[in-house]
Amino acid sequence: MLQAMHEKFETLFGVEAEVSAFAPGRINLIGEHTDYNGGYVFPAAIELGTYGLATKRDDRKIQLYSNNFEENGIVTFTLDDLVFNQEDDWANYPKGVVKYLTETFNEIDQGFNILVEGNIPNGASLSSSASIEILTGWLLKDLFDLRLERLQLIKIGQLVENKFMGVNSGIMDQFIIGMGKANHAILLDTATLEFEYVPAKFGDYVISIMNTNKRRSLTESKYNDRRAECESALAALKKELNIGALGELTLARFNQNKHLIKDEVSRRRAKHAVSENERTKLARKVLAEDDFEQFGKLLNMSHASLKEDYEVTGIELDTLAETAQQVNGVLGARMTGAGFAGCAIALVHKDSIKQLEHEVSQAYLEKIGYAPSFYHVAISGGVTSL
Ligand code: GLA
Repeated sequence: MLQAMHEKFETLFGVEAEVSAFAPGRINLIGEHTDYNGGYVFPAAIELGTYGLATKRDDRKIQLYSNNFEENGIVTFTLDDLVFNQEDDWANYPKGVVKYLTETFNEIDQGFNILVEGNIPNGASLSSSASIEILTGWLLKDLFDLRLERLQLIKIGQLVENKFMGVNSGIMDQFIIGMGKANHAILLDTATLEFEYVPAKFGDYVISIMNTNKRRSLTESKYNDRRAECESALAALKKELNIGALGELTLARFNQNKHLIKDEVSRRRAKHAVSENERTKLARKVLAEDDFEQFGKLLNMSHASLKEDYEVTGIELDTLAETAQQVNGVLGARMTGAGFAGCAIALVHKDSIKQLEHEVSQAYLEKIGYAPSFYHVAISGGVTSL
């Protein structure tokens, strides 16, 4: 792929690329919608991701091209015009990164060309957007020799989502894409940003990724609604409890105080955030004990909570996860990422992969009317220069 990208780069921009990099996508094992509630998340980077090539220009122009969005052609703007523009479509992600990087680093004083190509399915909840954000920052770090720390880049990526794109997401996606390690997941405490690499070893079991192939729509606004509902639950609890985030509560303490949350919907949202946080801590513990059965049960419970209490699944994700849960050789399954559409994951015995794909495809096709896709991918490292 890289060779073809180098050739394309020269055709597009008439010069050779100076730097190249790769940023992965991610799955989240468990710990969903906890990262903006000061809770734990447990993601892993995957070998599907985004490749990029870049070179400096002599003027202040920025030219971006994606092999995934050829219909958009070369998107052009300048260093003096770094504002969100609907028409720029996918290019707003790298544009946002450039905006915040130039606010910190005066070294970026000339324009550049970037070509990207990703093999993460877009809109599949595998973080194609965080992947391109982190990739862009990394390319510019190499191109302009910036003293850019990984954590700083991760925070810039989140800022792009929050302030440039208007999605109030947490830090999970950028964090795992910036910090991932091959064959390891990261247990991240989003309240302190302390983290631990945990071997992603499941004995005879593997993680299967199942894609609903449903295009997401309105996800951003629903995502922001969930965050607002959690905030209103927290505000209600704070009238009597001295806490700064839902992630500080055990489920027992939540249950003792949940009557403070008058709104039934917000109460359920908070219940998910608190219970999911407990499941995530437990998942880390049982994984260390090689108790894959228990780990699988936690995946199932997570999905049920995301369906009933958090209401971010939908018929497509439910069909994938709930069908998978019934397959012989599957220990557990759940949606992964923001939800509404995108992907689910299943922990499946390596001899039962074909069976899983067969049974889930049949049920899904019958109920939804089109086929899901399956991926089996290695757990990869974080963003890297090539
Ligand atoms: C999206 C967001 C993350 C996180 C997940 C849900 O991927 O970008 O910050 O909130 O949804 O766990």
